[in-house]
Amino acid sequence: MIYFDNSATTFKKPKQVIEQVSLGLTKYSANPGRSGHNASLQASEKVETVRNNICKFFNAPISVFTQNCTDALNLAILGSFVEGGHVICSINDHNSLIRPLFELQKQKGLEISIAKPNSKGCVELSDILPLVKPNTYMIAINHISNVDGEIANIQEIGEFCAQNCISFLVDGAQSAGHIKIDMQKSYIDYLTIAPHKGLYSPQGVGVLCISKKAKLQPIRYGGTGTDSLNIFQPKEIPECFESGTIATPNILGLGAGLKFVESNFDNINKKIDDFSTYLNFELGNIKNIKTYTHPNNSFGIIGFNIGDTDSMQVSQILNDKYHICTRGGLHCAGLKHNFLGTTKQGIVRASLCCYNTFSECEKFIKAVKEISKLL
Ligand code: ALA
Repeated sequence: MIYFDNSATTFKKPKQVIEQVSLGLTKYSANPGRSGHNASLQASEKVETVRNNICKFFNAPISVFTQNCTDALNLAILGSFVEGGHVICSINDHNSLIRPLFELQKQKGLEISIAKPNSKGCVELSDILPLVKPNTYMIAINHISNVDGEIANIQEIGEFCAQNCISFLVDGAQSAGHIKIDMQKSYIDYLTIAPHKGLYSPQGVGVLCISKKAKLQPIRYGGTGTDSLNIFQPKEIPECFESGTIATPNILGLGAGLKFVESNFDNINKKIDDFSTYLNFELGNIKNIKTYTHPNNSFGIIGFNIGDTDSMQVSQILNDKYHICTRGGLHCAGLKHNFLGTTKQGIVRASLCCYNTFSECEKFIKAVKEISKLL
């Protein structure tokens, strides 16, 4: 099997990740932060070490464990809602960001504007500025599109937000691990992470990093292991956002995935960039193929179509005949496909990780050439 669906989730996990998940199910399987016995304290210590390492890696003041990246986005968006306010997002945003926003529009009258990127293949401040209103309280933006790897210039948008007292939310689902993110330098108030993608971690845990000035309310209530006589949610951070038992094995796996990426960052991303450039170039040379990825900033995401054939059909042939895993369709990013004019056809997305090889890339190109001749 050739696995080119790493933007959905990285399939192969480093052995250190597997070892840590296993330790989370054996040595550190007590409930962290709930009891005073040694087993619980040891589990807590491991979890807090991972939390601190996340904060260091993203230069984040606070990090909160969530169920996944969607859960982190729900917490950031629903928990910071301002009555009578306006939020700007972009056509690159995934439904995990769009749907909580539009739910707020439906239920509470939130005003929403959607920015469109310029022709340079990058969402910039100039795309956003015309949409800013006196009641804009948040700019919520996808850092790297999961459809075609298009990037947002988060530095200039962050600086603008800081100067204008607007909260800045960056959806790092697709960028964490692929590009260095410094939360404080880029003036990010909310950074959401999908560790099972670019951090080679298990599914079942997400992260929300929060700035010190962010005004966030919990959206879920329950046991925190603290202040048990209080019938209301305690105010202490991060506990107030982490009601219920957290996913210790997944968190320990995340700790190992983070270390793996941190130690090999340049090698991982050079390899992914080189292979992306090769794939983009080769696909571009095949008659009847349309590529959607900007050659300079694909971050391992290669979107293409063969003529007007349904992307799901192409993806199915790649699977059935060549055992190559890609993702066709709309990638939970309807606004982006609307913008690209691909709502009917979808796009075939091949997405890479550090375990892919050049020989796999060659086999993939050969397969696409054969399919394009057939169709
Ligand atoms: N958001 C994931 C993707 O892009 C699942 O495929």
